[in-house]
Formats: sequence, C-alpha cells, structure tokens
Amino acid sequence: MGKALDGVRILDFTHVQSGPTCTQLLAWFGADVIKVERPGVGDATRGQLRDIPDVDSLYFTMLNHNKRSMTLNSKHEKGKAVLESLIKACDVLVENFAPGALDRMGFPWERIQEINPRMIYASVKGFGPGPYEDCKVYENVAQCTGGAASTTGFDDGPPTVTGAQIGDSGTGLNLALGIVTALFQRERSGRGQRVMAAMQDSVLNLCRVKLRDQQRLAHGPLKEYPQYPDGQFGDAVPRSGNASGGGQPGWILKCKGWESDPNAYIYFITQAAVWPAICKVIGKEEWIEDPEYATPEARLPKLVHIFATIEEWTKTKNKVEAMDILNPLNIPCGPILSMKEVAAEPSLRATGTVVEVDHPTRGKYLSVGNPIKLSDSPSEVTRSPLLGEHTEEILKDVLGLSDAEIAEVRAAGAI
Ligand SMILES: CC(C)(COP(=O)(O)OP(=O)(O)OC[C@H]1O[C@@H](n2cnc3c(N)ncnc32)[C@H](O)[C@@H]1OP(=O)(O)O)[C@@H](O)C(=O)NCCC(=O)NCCS
Repeated sequence: MGKALDGVRILDFTHVQSGPTCTQLLAWFGADVIKVERPGVGDATRGQLRDIPDVDSLYFTMLNHNKRSMTLNSKHEKGKAVLESLIKACDVLVENFAPGALDRMGFPWERIQEINPRMIYASVKGFGPGPYEDCKVYENVAQCTGGAASTTGFDDGPPTVTGAQIGDSGTGLNLALGIVTALFQRERSGRGQRVMAAMQDSVLNLCRVKLRDQQRLAHGPLKEYPQYPDGQFGDAVPRSGNASGGGQPGWILKCKGWESDPNAYIYFITQAAVWPAICKVIGKEEWIEDPEYATPEARLPKLVHIFATIEEWTKTKNKVEAMDILNPLNIPCGPILSMKEVAAEPSLRATGTVVEVDHPTRGKYLSVGNPIKLSDSPSEVTRSPLLGEHTEEILKDVLGLSDAEIAEVRAAGAI
C-alpha cells in the first residue's frame, strides 16, 4: 500500500528533539527523509544519555526512525556544492539550528529560493522575532517562557516543568503541520514558502486555557482553582495543582495501595451530568437533592471537601477496580499509569503506539510509534540509521554522482 507522502523528499538538517520529531512523523507518512549530519560527529544525541557504550543512544534511535543518514560538511566548499544539489533535488528543508546557522553556512532563505523556488524551508527556533530571537533554547526554557511552568505545580511550591516534552515534540508537531500545509498550497501556487514554528509560541498554544484564566481573573477569583474559597489570588494565574483546566472539576485521588505505590492514584472528574451516579457510588445519595451539593455552582466552594469524601471511597479500591466500576457509570476518570505499565499495555502494542524495534548494534528496544493513524497510509516503524549509513546511496540515487565523483568528494573531506 502506498503512503500519504510518497514522493516527497525531505532534506533533514535537524538535531536533538524538536526538529527530529517533525521529520520522523513525515517519514512515517512516507516521505524520504535524508538526515544530514556532520562527518564523524553526527547528531549530538547519538552519544547523549547512553545506556550501552558505543551504541547510538535511545534518545537518538527513538527520534530518528525511518530516515536515511548521510554525512556532509556543509561548511566545506565541496560540501556546499553537494548541499546545493540536494536543495535542488528535495521538496522540503527542515532545520532547528541555533538562529542564523544556515545563513552562516551561506544558505539564507533568499539563496534557497534562488536554487529551488519550489522548496519549502521549515525551521524550529526557540523564539519568534523579538528580544529573544537570537537565543538558543532547550525544552525547559520554552516551558518556562511559554507560560507552562508558572501555571504548573502547587500553590506552595516553585514553578514546575512537566515531563511531557511540549516544547520540543509539541513544536515538531506544529512544524510538521506547517510543512504539509505548505506542500498542499504548493500544489496550486507552484511556489515553496518559509515555515516557522517557535517553541515559546507552541508552548503558549498548549497553555491557551491559562491565558483564558488570566483574563477571567480580572473579574473575580477562579472558582474551580484549589485557592478558592480560602486561599489568595494575586494578579497572575496561580499554579492549580491537579485541578482540571475545564469546566468540570477534577482531582487526583488516592487508591488502595497508595502508601507504598507512588502511582496508586486515579484522576476523577465530577462531571455535572453524572453527579447522581457519583453520589450513589460513593454512598452519599443525600447529596443528589441537597441544595448545598445539587448544582455545580453550589459545589465549587466545597471541592476540597467533596474530593476528600470521594477519596475515602477510591482508597477502598485499586486504581483498576475503581476504573472498572466508574467507567460503566460514565464517570470520566483515568488511572495514573506508570511508564512501566504504559510500556506493557497490550492495547498500545496492538495499535502500534508502542512498538518493538530491532537495531543492528543495540538489539531490540521499545519506542513510541506514530500517534496519528491514517487508514490508507499505515506507518511501520523501521530502525534509525547509523551515522552516514546511506551517504553513498544518496549521492548516487538522489544526485546521480558517479563512483569517481564520490571518491573525489570523500578525498576532499566533505563527506
Ligand atoms: C538546540 C541548540 C541549543 C543546540 O545548540 P548547538 O549544539 O550549539 O548547535 P547549533 O545549532 O548552534 O549548531 C552548531 C554548529 O554546528 C554547525 N553544523 C551543524 N551541522 C553541520 C554540518 N553538517 N556541517 C558543518 N557544520 C555543521 C552549525 O552550522 C553551527 O555552526 P555555527 O555556530 O558556526 O553557525 C540550538 O541548535 C537551538 O537553539 N536550536 C533552535 C531551537 C531548538 O530546536 N531547540 C530544541 C532542541 S531539542
């Protein structure tokens, strides 16, 4: 079966996480992704957080599936000539270098357009135009500057970053959407275009509800926050612990075994539509009609007490038992799954969201497959390339170089 992006060729100048997540997604959709790496060095993540000596790290392998790797010194004269030919032969160039790096190599956007007017040139940067546009940025800098850290954690604790890589993988996802949208427009216009995704913007996009709450704060306390009614609100959105970001209050509650198991918890949402079912299951039927509890408005000032009461019930069940009882009652809830449990979850294996991949030097490992499922373009996850594994193949197949020409570029030290 064909793939959605068959025939699309990507010149992949990405490294670390944000850019590679984008090009990995495009590769899963069928694009031919040519990862260009510095000779002898490669993507820095190949050697970072290694679990096995001298073997590409899981950090690298889990972000670079389904790609080909070639080495090329793009600052070398002969390397620049090869790069120019690659720009002519590819549809999209993706990069996430520090600001200005591609310009310094001699390939600003204007030059790329001259070489190939159909080329889509897509970049991740930490910040968009403004005071920080020249700054290097990693994940947690984006979380801190995009509004996530100041609104995450508990009221009495410091700003907190989340374990989800919303700055890196979140921005990679946005960039991938920008690229396929630009490819779609190119079908009509015949022209390439510049695609930019800033990590700060991408994090803020995911913190939309917090900007909503910043404006609501001008009109009174945020009644679904744990600070209401007894705590204090300042002039900025506070950290809301485990409160739900929506109109249906929620909290993380202890389940049986919480004393020894750090993940024996369940997320419990007191959705208004199922309030009678909640009251019945926890043995508080009198709350169904009691005006002090019967409406969402009446419940808001008592959420701490209500969740403490529900917790007395959840503590009598393990998280799976609680889920099994609550789900048939349509009460929205979810067990806190450890990464060990996620890795072993059969349904995630069945859908290819968690996949086992074989690698020639590290052996078998688990990875996260394509989270986006297309019925006509199934994704199979193939291993990440070794450094420079496809250099000659790409120079021959994509650029049509002869053996003698390849030997010349190699002798010059450009590949
Ligand atoms: C992630 C980041 C902080 C890493 O910084 P870094 O390790 O110093 O890497 P840089 O991007 O600055 O690249 C280093 C140099 O290698 C050079 N280089 C990279 N690939 C090369 C190649 N194939 N041939 C020759 N030179 C190469 C670059 O041109 C750059 O040189 P310059 O500084 O002379 O311009 C930075 O790239 C960045 O801010 N990127 C944008 C935001 C981003 O994506 N962050 C998320 C990371 S998950």
